[in-house]
Amino acid sequence: GGRGMWNPLGLSMLLALAGRGLPGRCPQVCVCDNIRRHVSCRRQNLTEVPVTIPQMTQRLDLQGNALKVIPPEAFLSLPYLTHLDLRHCQLERVEEGAFRGLGRLVYLNLASNHLSVLYQEALDGLGSLRQLVLENNQLEEIRTGAFSQLGSLGLLSLAHNSLVYLPDMAFQGLLQIRWLRLSHNALNVLAPEALAGLPGLRRLSLDHNELQALPGEALSRPDGLVQLELGHNPLTYLGEEDGLALGALRDLAFDHAALQDVGAGAFARCPRLRSLDLQSNQLGGLPPLEGVGQLRKLNLSGNPLLCDCAARPLWEWVARARVQTDGLCSEPRRLKGEALESLRARDLYCERQGDKVEEGEEVAPRPRAPEEDRATKPCPAACVCSPDSQHSSCENKGLRLIPSGFPNHTQLLDLRRNNFSAIAQGSFPGLACLVSLHLQNCGISRLEPGALHGLGQLVYLYLSDNQLSGLSAAALQGTPRLRYLYLDGNHFTQLPRAALKVLPGLFSLHLGRNALQHLAMGDLTGPKGLHCLYVSGNRISRLGPGPALELEKLHLDRNQLQTVPTKALKGLPALRELQLSGNPLRVLEDRAFWPVASSLQHLYLNGTGLQQISPGAFAGLGPGLRTLYLEKNQLQTLPPMDSFTRLELISLSENPFRCDCRLLPLHRWLAGLNLRVGATCEFPVNARGQKVKAATAAFEACPGWGTKKGKRGPPSAQRQARKARGQKKQAGPVKVGGSGGLGGRGHID
Ligand SMILES: *[C@@H]1O[C@H](CO)[C@@H](O)[C@H](O)[C@H]1NC(C)=O
Ligand SMILES: *[C@@H]1O[C@H](CO)[C@@H](O)[C@H](O)[C@H]1NC(C)=O
Ligand SMILES: *[C@@H]1O[C@H](CO)[C@@H](O)[C@H](O)[C@H]1NC(C)=O
Ligand SMILES: *[C@@H]1O[C@H](CO)[C@@H](O)[C@H](O)[C@H]1NC(C)=O
Ligand SMILES: *[C@@H]1O[C@H](CO)[C@@H](O)[C@H](O)[C@H]1NC(C)=O
Repeated sequence: GGRGMWNPLGLSMLLALAGRGLPGRCPQVCVCDNIRRHVSCRRQNLTEVPVTIPQMTQRLDLQGNALKVIPPEAFLSLPYLTHLDLRHCQLERVEEGAFRGLGRLVYLNLASNHLSVLYQEALDGLGSLRQLVLENNQLEEIRTGAFSQLGSLGLLSLAHNSLVYLPDMAFQGLLQIRWLRLSHNALNVLAPEALAGLPGLRRLSLDHNELQALPGEALSRPDGLVQLELGHNPLTYLGEEDGLALGALRDLAFDHAALQDVGAGAFARCPRLRSLDLQSNQLGGLPPLEGVGQLRKLNLSGNPLLCDCAARPLWEWVARARVQTDGLCSEPRRLKGEALESLRARDLYCERQGDKVEEGEEVAPRPRAPEEDRATKPCPAACVCSPDSQHSSCENKGLRLIPSGFPNHTQLLDLRRNNFSAIAQGSFPGLACLVSLHLQNCGISRLEPGALHGLGQLVYLYLSDNQLSGLSAAALQGTPRLRYLYLDGNHFTQLPRAALKVLPGLFSLHLGRNALQHLAMGDLTGPKGLHCLYVSGNRISRLGPGPALELEKLHLDRNQLQTVPTKALKGLPALRELQLSGNPLRVLEDRAFWPVASSLQHLYLNGTGLQQISPGAFAGLGPGLRTLYLEKNQLQTLPPMDSFTRLELISLSENPFRCDCRLLPLHRWLAGLNLRVGATCEFPVNARGQKVKAATAAFEACPGWGTKKGKRGPPSAQRQARKARGQKKQAGPVKVGGSGGLGGRGHID
């Protein structure tokens, strides 16, 4: 082929169309291949389709022009077209009947334009079309019937648009469609019949949307579905009520969601399921799944799996059902980083002596007590003692004295909701095996010295919701193995320092809903291995320094702190999670989190009255940070966020953002972030209610708007400014190529 040369074929038709110019000569700006009947007129700033394109052309490439509008019957003179590429043509409108006459077209690419609506008859006449690509536009809605003429379509991609909602029968008429791509939109609602009438659909991509609950009904309509992608949605729970019923489904992905729990029957109506991807959620475990007898692959990697006795049923099920499982234990510490699949059953025990002995494979099973023997085993009146589980319970029996005479192998004793007022010395005789003692809501105001005497195996002590204001060392003497101490909802005004001294193995201390005013971290030197300290809902206004070298979680939410306790953080080199929500902080100073910057992963600053964040407030924090809550504040702007490259969750909703040029870096950063963020503009008034990420109109007049940006988000503020200076000429409301939030995104061709 050659520029400007084309041997005209079909002279009669040529003459018939003479009124529109002379189709047959290759337009000056195009390249024509007369053997393969391809014409390419790429990147020529064309504002309309050239009229002289040879009529026999089958493939026409018009990428990178400035067509803006496709008028009705724009291609009427090219009836043999099979492939038409209109990417990057600045299209804002496709008029009704635009493609009329293209009855042979099989491939139409309209990606990377500025389309926000598709009118009902815009796609008329495309009865042979098999692939339609509408990626990277600004479509906000699908009008019912928009695709009704596309009876041959096999692939429709609407990825990277702004769809929020799919109405009933949204894809009506797509009788042959096999793959529907809706990834990277903002979908949060699917009408129940949104996906009805798609008998050929085999693959549905709904990843990177904003589904907070599984639209089980809508998703169960395309019953031939084999592959369903739902990753990167903020789903927290999958149960059976809203579950999927897809008899042919084989591959199901829920990766990178926010799942905290999955019901055993969640997939029971997907009997052909072979592969289930749950990677990178927040699952501590999984129950054995029901009704998925053909499951072969289960990906649990990137979940914080708890590999103790609770993981036993899962372990046994995957072993029995031969499901290949990926997933590493994050707790307990002895198994951190081990693959669940590689463990032996006996590794999965809870830190209770009895369990370990009882469930260990190498230890001969304990001989079972004969029936008659069991019947004579002691159990106090008003209580229930279960010899199988070694649990004894006298919950809510109006007791005023702690009963005695429990079976001496009791491991769990539940005495909740009674009325003991004080726990006297030696209240638990003969319970040397006790692991867990429940004394919540018992009106207890005092533990006398020696109260817990003889409980040498005690690990869990629940004293929440009593009347305690102190705890002496003598009261806790004799419980060297205590790891979890629950004192929420009492009357403590300070940490029970003396008591903590005799609990060297304490792992987790719960003191929420008390009356603490000053938290002296120095008082924690007793329990050197303390990992979690929960003091939410007190009146803490000051934090005294002190080392707590192993502390990983510190919940200080709903207190009276007026500044981030930066100094006290210096003693906490292992801190991963810091909860400060609900404190009246108002301002974040520079380097507020500096001492814990290298370890911090989860930071909660929601509801802290924040009006201002200093540019250097987050200094030091970077790729390590996974979660950042800033919702419910008074923020109008934010400092540069681009060092946060590995966030999995960021929440910015309920802030009055001011969408002017100072917010451009945030707008760009959000545009490159595949996370639900919830930032909306409050100012200026004409942008009110729009998402910061989508409020393009508010930013397109800003200096530096048209500059190319990288995949990872915007460059730093300085580089941004430098770029803006260097590219003044290009500034203005011109959207070049993939900029304006579209750069770096993939296409399907
Ligand atoms: C298209 O327009 C741009 C900007 O006006 C110009 O730089 C470029 O050279 C033009 N391209 C062609 C092929 O005319
Ligand atoms: C599970 O996901 C991880 C992380 O992406 C990947 O490396 C691994 O190959 C996956 N495992 C299976 C069985 O697909
Ligand atoms: C429990 O009591 C039985 C007698 O009833 C006794 O044989 C056994 O040694 C006791 N076990 C412990 C751990 O005290
Ligand atoms: C608990 O006992 C005290 C007296 O010992 C009594 O005043 C109180 O009403 C009792 N509380 C309940 C819930 O029974
Ligand atoms: C902060 O956000 C967390 C997570 O959404 C929520 O559980 C908590 O109640 C919020 N706290 C306040 C004070 O808003």
